Amino acid sequence: MTTTTVARRANAVPTDPRQHARDIAEAVDYAWHSRYGGSRIEVPMSVVAALALVARETEDPDRLAALAEMFERLDHEGFGLLMQRLWCEFAAIRPDLNPRTKHLWSWTDEDQDETVLRAVQAVGQAALRKGLFGRCGPDGWGETDLLGMLLQTMKSHSGKKGIGQFLTPESVTLLLGGMNTPDEGARILEPCAGTGAMLLGAAQAMREKGLDPTACEWWANDLDPLAAALCAVNFHLWGLGLRVVVGCGDGLLDQWMHEALEHRQIAIDEIQRAWRMARQIAAVRHVLDLPTPESALDRHLRKAKPKAAPPPPPAPPASSTFDAEAVFRQRRLF
Ligand SMILES: C[S@@+](CC[C@H](N)C(=O)[O-])C[C@H]1O[C@@H](n2cnc3c(N)ncnc32)[C@H](O)[C@@H]1O
Repeated sequence: MTTTTVARRANAVPTDPRQHARDIAEAVDYAWHSRYGGSRIEVPMSVVAALALVARETEDPDRLAALAEMFERLDHEGFGLLMQRLWCEFAAIRPDLNPRTKHLWSWTDEDQDETVLRAVQAVGQAALRKGLFGRCGPDGWGETDLLGMLLQTMKSHSGKKGIGQFLTPESVTLLLGGMNTPDEGARILEPCAGTGAMLLGAAQAMREKGLDPTACEWWANDLDPLAAALCAVNFHLWGLGLRVVVGCGDGLLDQWMHEALEHRQIAIDEIQRAWRMARQIAAVRHVLDLPTPESALDRHLRKAKPKAAPPPPPAPPASSTFDAEAVFRQRRLF
């Protein structure tokens, strides 16, 4: 790891994760609106969510710092391809969340406008420079609602007041979680969950009491597809386990629960079919001894990889006396 990386990491990461989340949200909001400013705020949110997932899955801070350096050097096309790859990988490991997270990744399947891609790159760089990768592993972003903070910050430019999209502050969710801590095995239901802050409070209270939140069933729903998508990512970032269902419908009716369960099962079946197909293709390639082709993203990453450190400069001469005469005799001065 280079000295610059160490210095940047030490400078960029405030100790308070909430303050850190606020800094990232403000930097991302500024990057998006100064570069592009389009109303599709799911795009910058998708970038931050994908990078936060990388931070969660990478426990080694040095590896994460090296990745940050490489990602920051990607050009706009490379950054777009990176987003596509990260969301594909997430869909493969969490197909159950795919019906909700689709709202965050569907733009990566569209023909990309260069202006949007440049804004995507600017957003990613802003988040990385603010130390998004300075928190790694399951604990990294596991105890704060980074995505909720981002949603509130970015929606402050639009009409969040219309649907009352103000999320409950963490101090309050923690207090409520402590007052009414779920038991292991409980089913917890939030029909107007936003990004899930109340559920995070409950999970944190369980952990503080030595209970395991993955032993519960977590059901969340929101009318707003973006909030529901971020809540689905949060469930993974917060380590709530696999017994989770996230819906997107009217929380005043039961319908969302049936739909969410059905869509969840369809998504799991689809990914299982895709896995079977991928395994067959890999087996055929292996039998035919075909080399794995380099993807467009691999090419961009190869170019962005920092070059190996140059060899150290030669050691200085033992004596500081400059023997001008000797050099002149060897005609090395001119
Ligand atoms: C004040 S926020 C609170 C979110 C979350 N419960 C918290 O404490 O942070 C209210 C949320 O309810 C959602 N909402 C409003 N009406 C709804 C409805 N009929 N069904 C589902 N969600 C709804 C909004 O989109 C918003 O995200």
